[in-house]
Amino acid sequence: MRKVGLGVIGLGVFGQNHVKVYAEHPYGELIAVCDIKEDLMKATAEKYGVEGYLDYREMLRNPRIDAVSVVTPDFLHRDIVVEAAEAGKHILCEKPLATKVEHAEEMVKAAERAGVTLMVDFHNRWNPPFAKTKEAVEAGELGDPVHAYIRLSDTMYVPTKMLSWASKSSVLWFLGSHTTDLARWIFGSEADSVYAVSGMKVLKGMGIDTPDYYQYVIKFKNGAVAALENSWILPETLPAIVDFKAEFVFTEGCIYVDTVQHGAFKKFMKNRWEYPDILAGPSLIHGRYIGFAKESISHFVDCIAQDKEPLVTGRDGLEVTKILNAVIESAEKKREVVL
Ligand SMILES: NC(=O)c1ccc[n+]([C@@H]2O[C@H](COP(=O)([O-])OP(=O)(O)OC[C@H]3O[C@@H](n4cnc5c(N)ncnc54)[C@H](O)[C@@H]3O)[C@@H](O)[C@H]2O)c1
Repeated sequence: MRKVGLGVIGLGVFGQNHVKVYAEHPYGELIAVCDIKEDLMKATAEKYGVEGYLDYREMLRNPRIDAVSVVTPDFLHRDIVVEAAEAGKHILCEKPLATKVEHAEEMVKAAERAGVTLMVDFHNRWNPPFAKTKEAVEAGELGDPVHAYIRLSDTMYVPTKMLSWASKSSVLWFLGSHTTDLARWIFGSEADSVYAVSGMKVLKGMGIDTPDYYQYVIKFKNGAVAALENSWILPETLPAIVDFKAEFVFTEGCIYVDTVQHGAFKKFMKNRWEYPDILAGPSLIHGRYIGFAKESISHFVDCIAQDKEPLVTGRDGLEVTKILNAVIESAEKKREVVL
C-alpha cells in the first residue's frame, strides 16, 4: 500500500499532536509542516526531518501531499479548508469546523465538489466512556434517549494563559463544539431548538472579551433533551485543567461518565497535586503514543489509506456550527431559538 503523504497547517499547542501522530502512523508519511511563525515552523520541520512552509498555499501545491490537517485557531479554518479541497487534498479540520454557518457550508460544499474527504476532529467520539455509551445505545441495552447533562469546562489557565486568541473565540466554540457533537451523536438525532444563557464578568474584567460560561438546553427532533454547560473560569487550583462529566438517561437505563475525577490516577507531590490526563493524550507509554486524541487523527489516515468514510464528516461539523450559532442567538435574545 502506498503511504498517505501528510501535511500539518498550524503548529501550535494542538498542531504538534497532529504532527506526532502522523510521524508514527504506519500508513502515513509526514511530508511537510506549515506555520506563519517562522521559528516554530523551522523547529518543527527540523525535529521531524520534513519540509517546512510559511505559506500554506505553497504547501498545498506539493504533489507528494495527499492530505492535510488544519490546526489554526477556531475562526481561521475556512479559507485553508476550501483551498485545500480545491487543491485536491483530503482534510482533517480541527473543531469547530467554522464559527459561521455560511463558512461551514462553503467548506462542506468545496470538499464535496472536489470529491475529497473532510473530517472534523471531534475526538471525544474516541473517548472510551463515550464510545462505549454509543455502543450500548446501538446494542439496544438502554432503550430510547430521554435526557442528558454534559459538563465540559476548563480552568482559567486556558483562556488566560494557553490560548492567545481566546477573546476572538469562546468556550462555546472551544469546548461546546465537543459536547454538542457528543449529545447529537449519542442521542442519534439533530437539534430542533435551543435555549441558552451565558454571562460575562470574570474574564472581561481581566481584559479578555469573551463569555465566562454558556449553559444551554438542546431539544432534539426525537424528543430527547440535553442540558450542556461549558465554563472557562474554573480556578487553577483544580487538580486538572479540564472538568468533564456526563449523565445520559434512557428509558431503560442510564450512563454516568467522569473522565477526570475518576480516581484512577492521582499524583501527590510535596507542594502540589494533580490528576494527570490518562485518556486523551497523545501520551507516550513505553515509547508509543496512546489516547483518544491520537485515535481520531490516526482514524483519518486509516480512512484515506483504505478509502473509507470517517466516523465524523464535514456535515457533522456543519450541524454543530448551526446549533452553536443558535445557542449564541438564544443567549443574546433571551428566548428559545428553533433551528
Ligand atoms: N489546545 C487544545 O487543547 C486543543 C484541543 C483540541 C483542538 N484544538 C483546536 O485546534 C485549533 C488550534 O488550536 P491551538 O490550541 O493549537 O492554537 P495555537 O494558537 O496554539 O496554534 C495555532 C497555530 O496556527 C498558526 N497559524 C495561524 N494562521 C496560520 C496560517 N494562515 N497558516 C499557517 N499557520 C497559521 C499560528 O501561528 C499558531 O502557531 C483550534 O481550532 C482549537 O479549537 C485545540
